[in-house]
Parts: sequence; C-alpha cells; structure tokens
Amino acid sequence: MATVLQKPQAVGLGKLGSPPHAHKFEHIDVRPITPHTGAEVRGVSLGSLTPEQIEEIKIAFHQHLVLVFRDQDITQEQHKDFGRNFGSLHIHPSFSHLGKKGDPELFVIDTTQESRFSNGEAWHSDVSCDPVPPLASLLYVKDAPPNGGGDTCFANMYEAFHALSEPLQQMLYPLSAVHDGRKDLDNYNFQLKPGQSYPRAEHPIVTKHPETGHAVLYVNGSFTSHIVGMSRTESDAILNLLYQHLEQNPRWQCRVSYEPNTLTMWDNRCAQHHAVWDYYPHSRYAERVTVQCPAGPDAFAS
Ligand code: SIN
Repeated sequence: MATVLQKPQAVGLGKLGSPPHAHKFEHIDVRPITPHTGAEVRGVSLGSLTPEQIEEIKIAFHQHLVLVFRDQDITQEQHKDFGRNFGSLHIHPSFSHLGKKGDPELFVIDTTQESRFSNGEAWHSDVSCDPVPPLASLLYVKDAPPNGGGDTCFANMYEAFHALSEPLQQMLYPLSAVHDGRKDLDNYNFQLKPGQSYPRAEHPIVTKHPETGHAVLYVNGSFTSHIVGMSRTESDAILNLLYQHLEQNPRWQCRVSYEPNTLTMWDNRCAQHHAVWDYYPHSRYAERVTVQCPAGPDAFAS
C-alpha cells in the first residue's frame, strides 16, 4: 500500500503579517538558521547600532523569534542599552523576592565544575510565573565551553500550536493554566524560607502575540503547574501530551551553538528554550538582560 505523505504546514508569518522572510534587509545581514526559527544577524556592532539597524533588528526579531549576534565586544551597560531598545528591563524574582545580591538588571548564568544544577536545563519560557512575563531575553555568552557544548535549543511555539489538530486546538482555546515559580524552584531543589514567596500567575493556554497577532501555545514544563478547572489526572495528561508534542519534532526547533562573545536574543512570548549542560567538567559563563513586557498575555480568540 502506498504511504500517504502529509505535507508539513508551517504557520508562516504571512498569514497575519509579512511572509516569513520577505523583508529586504538593507542595514543588517540576516541568515536564517532554519526556515522558520532563528537567524544569525551579521554586519552589526551591538555597541554602536544605527536607528535603521535597530528598526531592522526588530523586524527580524518578529520574523525569526531568535536572533544570534556573534563576535560582539560589549560592556554590561551596552548590553543593557541594547535591551532597552525593546522596552524597560525586567528584574528577575530572585532579586525582588529572594534577596539575591548583585545587579538586578543582569542575571548571571555561571555553570562550573562545582555547579549542582545548570540554569534553564528544561524547556521553558523565562519567568512565565510572573503576572507579566518578560518580552525578550538577551543572553551574552562570554565564556563558552571549549568542547563545543553549552548550546541553547529553541522551539517556535507558533508552529507547535499550528501543528496540533483542529479538535485539540479548539479544546485548548478557552483554557488557562497556572504558572507557579515554586515548581521551577523545585527543579533546583530550592526551598523557600519562612516569609519568602515567589510569583505565581494564571495565563491563557493559547495566547495571542501582541505584535504578530498569531496564536501561541503557552505552557511549559518548568513553570506550568496545572490547568485551571481540571482534575490533576486530566491536567497532567493534557500538559504531558503538549510537552511531548513540543519536544518530538525538530521542524519547529533550532539550536544555537556558542563561541565566546555571542549574544542571542529570543522572544519569550512565542519561543521556548532549553539550555544544554553537556560540557562538564568545563565551564560556561553568560549574562542575561531581560526585557519587561508592557502587559501580560492575552487569550487568542479563535
Ligand atoms: C536561560 O535563559 O534559561 C538560560 C539559557 C542558556 O543559558 O542557554
């Protein structure tokens, strides 16, 4: 019997905006990593961008979700200034809620031979437990492991949603889920002390990206604790199905590898990521600036 091949249907930003790679960039050089997720941006120096380059970086950001800038020699202030082109800077709850010391606008990700855990080693969207989760994260990898490890994997959550069957999409539209920061702290065996709290928020499961208007599958294994209005058994079964769906298909994923001085920025509203800790006993050092979103996620009205 002949095999019937099903043609993959990519969401293509053309459905609501401009086609995926139709913009003719004149001030930056954009090289897609995969057809739908991720691009390297060349021909820019992040410490001295022109207004035209900033505008085109914003266009590329909406088209590709993940942008990689290599060979960048920037100070911490220049890193923050680059982030401020997209909004005000977000303060991680470990500073605001747990008394973490240091510069609250700069989240250090330092994994060494002594580390018991590495930050972000599971699929997630940064700080989705916040009532207003961050818009973007800008990770500046200063020291990359010499053995080629320490990549970040990304998943395009427009594509992941679009690939679900129509009946499942319809079931998900009206639902919301709780994103609980304590679930993520558990991943690091971190116990809150008496009097300490950590953010927890309810968000729609299918959100509408405020700029592209596309539907996004917005649950993640690090933060999402349960679906509102369902039994634990039902909620776990549906969430696990969605996580399995996200993980199973490289079609909506890309992988970014690092040399020292690589800055990668991603859109937390429509992309998830997973930091790969495959470089023990080597070290990796990065600083992350995170951009605040003006408002929390809205539901996608089907
Ligand atoms: C994170 O922001 O979750 C960490 C990403 C990475 O270190 O690759």
